[in-house]
Amino acid sequence: MSNPLRHLAIIMDGNGRWAKERGLRRIKGHEAGVETIRRITRYCAEHPEIETLTLYAFSTENWKRPKMEVDYLMYLLERLVHTERKLYAEKGVRFETIGDLSPLSKKLRNTIEETKRITRSHDRLSQVLALNYGGRDEIVRSVRRVLEAGEEINEANITRRLDTPFGDVDLMIRTSGEQRLSNFLLWQLSYAELAFTPTYWPDFSVEELESLIEQYKQRQRKFGGI
Ligand code: FPP
Repeated sequence: MSNPLRHLAIIMDGNGRWAKERGLRRIKGHEAGVETIRRITRYCAEHPEIETLTLYAFSTENWKRPKMEVDYLMYLLERLVHTERKLYAEKGVRFETIGDLSPLSKKLRNTIEETKRITRSHDRLSQVLALNYGGRDEIVRSVRRVLEAGEEINEANITRRLDTPFGDVDLMIRTSGEQRLSNFLLWQLSYAELAFTPTYWPDFSVEELESLIEQYKQRQRKFGGI
């Protein structure tokens, strides 16, 4: 029997290098990356098994980039969250986020909240954007909540009080050839299968995703057993 695929998580990496190799500015790579988000989300919404697609859109470390690039990423994000409402409605996609949104502008937070509200009843796919997200931080905050609630510190309670009710990841893909987790979903990736591809995110295609899913299906997942 092949492995179920309910939760797919992706570290979208390589926009900057994609642009540089074409003699373009880095922001052109991010623009092209938005198109990839679109086609991959569309594909996942039509996939018979995938329930959750979590995308690492902005890490807690990304604030260290030049202000102009951070501002442009925020601009693209706002545009994406607004214009995707059409796709979300058409394909039954529920929009969610994980991470601390408080440093984002009020306008952006409002757009995010409004899109969440509009898509709340959609149940074909949850698209979760990790924004200003860090995995260690999420675990620390969960443990704190467990303590505050006077509960026992155990795996079930820590899982329950994470920011994300989306459950364990089945398959995690990172593009651009880097082979690191970069503080992404550390708790939820414990038993995930990992796939790394040299393809830069703007070039990542549905065909390549299908091929990685096919390879995942054939792997043997043991979850610590034999
Ligand atoms: C990595 O490329 C990509 C990101 C910073 C996150 C993903 C961003 C997008 C897909 C663009 C849309 C923006 C948002 C926030 C949804 P990189 O710049 O690290 O590439 P490099 O490693 O080649 O420099």
